[in-house]
Amino acid sequence: MEVNLNVNGRNRSVTCRANATLVDVLREQLNLTGAHVGCDTSQCGACTVHLNGDAVKACTILAAQCDGQAILTIEGLSSADGHHPMQAAFKNCHALQCGFCTPGMIMSAIDLVQKNDDLTDAQIREQLEGNLCRCTGYQNIAAAVAEGASAMKEAGQ
Ligand code: FES
Ligand code: FES
Repeated sequence: MEVNLNVNGRNRSVTCRANATLVDVLREQLNLTGAHVGCDTSQCGACTVHLNGDAVKACTILAAQCDGQAILTIEGLSSADGHHPMQAAFKNCHALQCGFCTPGMIMSAIDLVQKNDDLTDAQIREQLEGNLCRCTGYQNIAAAVAEGASAMKEAGQ
C-alpha cells in the first residue's frame, strides 16, 4: 500500500506492507536510522519519534496509521544554527555511552519538557521510565534533561 508521510518537514511517499511498522519504514525505506529497534515490543523506547508533536514508540505503530501525519525523527532536530538544545545538553553532560538509547531518550525528553514546566529530578526520572539505557547512565541522562529543559525555555521552545 502507499503511505504518505511528512517526515522532518519533507513530504515522503512510500510503498509498504499494510503491517509495516513506522520504525521499519523510517529505517529501511527512508534511510532514517536514528530511531533504533531495541526490543520491538514497546519496552525500551529506543525507537521513539514524534507523531504530530507527541512522542510515540515507532515499533508499535503501523506506518499506515500515520498516513497524512507529521513525523519528527532525531535527524530532523538540528537546524542551521546547530544542535537542538536537548541534543547539546546530552553532549555537555556526557549523557551517552554507546548511544543506542540516545535518540529515543532525546525525543522523549523534548516531548516531556514541551508538556511540563519546572520538572523536578524525580519527575524526569519517573516520566522517562519508558526509555531504557542498557549502559545504565541514568544520572547523566537526568542531568542532561534538566539542562536541556532550561536551554529550551531560554530558547523559547
Ligand atoms: S524498539 Fe520500540 S520500544 Fe523498544
Ligand atoms: S548509552 Fe548505551 S544504551 Fe544508553
